[in-house]
Amino acid sequence: MTERTTEPAAPHEPVVVVVAGALYDGGRLLAARRSAPVELAGRWELPGGKLEPGESPEAALVRELREELGVDVEPGERIPGEWPLKPGYVLRVWTARLLSGEPRPLEDHDELRWLSRSELDSVDWLDQDRPAVAEAARWLPAP
Ligand code: CDP
Repeated sequence: MTERTTEPAAPHEPVVVVVAGALYDGGRLLAARRSAPVELAGRWELPGGKLEPGESPEAALVRELREELGVDVEPGERIPGEWPLKPGYVLRVWTARLLSGEPRPLEDHDELRWLSRSELDSVDWLDQDRPAVAEAARWLPAP
């Protein structure tokens, strides 16, 4: 028989992986308000960016948070799940712990806020980040 049952019905399209960090410090989670592009400006996200070819997600997260926030972080575990962004892009999220520096909005953002669990709904998260933030809340202490 030539029937193949183990191969996918269609080849997977290559996807761009965007790695974002659920960055914790003192029992709070960092939210970042986007300043660009115009259609996303004013909405809040978990900071991060695109994985570069050959780069591990953890290395990408360390690089992105250094570039965007000026901090050093230690990646932790992957938050279960994967969330579609625009076509061809998916969001994956890792927990991260602040090692050094005070986050500043150096690139892509114009405001940062540390949110406790009870404050998570106080900002207008990007739609695609909402399920990731709901999962990220599980790493926060109960109010
Ligand atoms: O910094 P880099 O150019 O690599 O990536 P980015 O512009 O920060 O993010 C790439 C895309 O992922 C943008 O369209 C962001 O809006 C989106 N993104 C998102 O939807 N949620 C996040 N937590 C991070 C990025």
